[in-house]
Amino acid sequence: MFEIKSKDGLGRIGKLTIGKKSIETPTLMPVINPNKIVIAPKDMYDYGAEIIITNSYIIYRTNKLKEIALEKGIHKMLDFNGVIETDSGSFQMAAYGDIEIENKEILQFQKDIGVDIGTFLDIPTHPDESHNKAQSDLETTLERAREAVNFDLNLNGTIQGGTHLDLRRKSAEEMSNLPFTVNPIGGVVPLMMEYRFSELVDIILSVKANLSPARPVHLFGAGHPMLLSLSVLLGCDLFDSAAYVLYAQDLRYLTPYGTKKLNEMKYLPCTCPVCRKYTAQELINEKEEKRLELLSSHNLYATFEELKLIKESIHEGTLFELVETRIRSHPRLLLAYRKIKDYYTLLEEFDPITKRSALFYTGEESNLRPIVKRTKDRIKGLNSKKYEDHLFFGKFPKELEFTYPFGQCEMEEERREKGDSELTDEDTIRIIADYQFGTGVGEKLFKDAVVKRSKTKMIRYIYNENGLMLATLRARDGLFTPNIEGSKRLKEIIPFPRYRIIVDEEAAPFIKEGANVFTKFVIDMDKNLRPYEEVLIVNSKDDLLGTGTLMLSPREIRAFERGMAVRTRWGIEKNNSTQEY
Ligand code: GUN
Ligand code: ZN
Repeated sequence: MFEIKSKDGLGRIGKLTIGKKSIETPTLMPVINPNKIVIAPKDMYDYGAEIIITNSYIIYRTNKLKEIALEKGIHKMLDFNGVIETDSGSFQMAAYGDIEIENKEILQFQKDIGVDIGTFLDIPTHPDESHNKAQSDLETTLERAREAVNFDLNLNGTIQGGTHLDLRRKSAEEMSNLPFTVNPIGGVVPLMMEYRFSELVDIILSVKANLSPARPVHLFGAGHPMLLSLSVLLGCDLFDSAAYVLYAQDLRYLTPYGTKKLNEMKYLPCTCPVCRKYTAQELINEKEEKRLELLSSHNLYATFEELKLIKESIHEGTLFELVETRIRSHPRLLLAYRKIKDYYTLLEEFDPITKRSALFYTGEESNLRPIVKRTKDRIKGLNSKKYEDHLFFGKFPKELEFTYPFGQCEMEEERREKGDSELTDEDTIRIIADYQFGTGVGEKLFKDAVVKRSKTKMIRYIYNENGLMLATLRARDGLFTPNIEGSKRLKEIIPFPRYRIIVDEEAAPFIKEGANVFTKFVIDMDKNLRPYEEVLIVNSKDDLLGTGTLMLSPREIRAFERGMAVRTRWGIEKNNSTQEY
């Protein structure tokens, strides 16, 4: 079971529940080599790991390990109570050719040793493989996938297809129809090793466009901190990596802005327990085994620190800004990021309409964010009294100067004091409402409006002539949150089903009292809505039940069994419209 808690771009903070255990995504599964443990699984909690991954094929073919695993179970064997995922040996097959196991055999083994998430024997297609071969490999992979879902086990449904995007799309579609718990994107390790990030972006986005948004996506073999923010922005939720150990073996020090050679470093620019205690020279002077452990430890800390920063950025709505700094760590990453312009429709569909933080320009690439074209499109029909120039959007209505995304915080104070003598409050609130709910809405919604300003002289509350509150202009982003009285008007002005979310009669009494709307109660909705938009909650007869903020995209609401669709602000029977001023 997977739920979304917060969104930015195609990125999401999610909760993945496996039986009685749940983990927060995006996250990384440290790879545990059962033959050579560098950092003990039980110590992984200290790094922030809630889930680890190991290889069931290695255990299976090593008699001693196989016996222990079958006898004690995988959790006791590794001494780890969190979620344990296992791979199947597919990767060994791709790397070394012969592998002496069948799909059913390795699936049964994973079940027998009690793994939380298993993997069937997919065929990782090399990026340079021909279309013909990639297609026949994919057909085998899909046959094995259909065989796998008969096992009563949470499973990875790995998506293959090489660099052939038609095959990736087909694979994603087929996998959406099979009951997998997670859908990894496989066969991408060679691309990452060769810095072929543009092809990686094409693959991820072709998969995302055709896979159910309710499926967590694992980018198989990805774990370098430099690549994490971009991958999360594009909709990947899980990562695994042996990188923390493999790089340490080569005396390489991981940072989110690239890999450093330890013996060329003098200062260790990190505050993890290892870097606090050791200088670069001291680390180099350590005995080989100890040094491997210490450097692996730093590498893992650095990776989880980057994941926390990514999650904070999703929460703030600054994931694009973070990615745009990270892509400057390597020219191939910068080039890869530019690919997002080919996937505007997909990104725009999922990117929230408003964010907690102001938009920051980090360079030319900032113009590729979906919000730029979306916003330009949304202001096209507006008839403003006065226009201004904006770095991102060109000519824009001055009435929107404090509304997201036009507002620039560093200028706010000064402009707020001055105000604009040429624009009346009526002009301003009309254009903001038109921008938010469509051209022509503002004039009708606020035909008799009385504006009340805050202590800081900002427009804050809008009342009707009888003193009933219609809407609040939210300080954070200069967009309206309608009250019940305003929502009643919006429902009359805007034809069905625009700006509506239509809910089941069963949930109606609760929503009227102000309860949130959960995805399973949504019957239908306006498909043009975007996450974090203000919406009207109605029943199928278009009776108003309440109003609130949409938390997901329409396609996500349809796909998810669990989670909140609308955070209800006012229910029709519990509201503050009559609050006098
Ligand atoms: N590890 C890295 N890539 C892959 C892949 O494509 N499939 C599987 N099963 N494991 C992997
Ligand atoms: Zn460190």
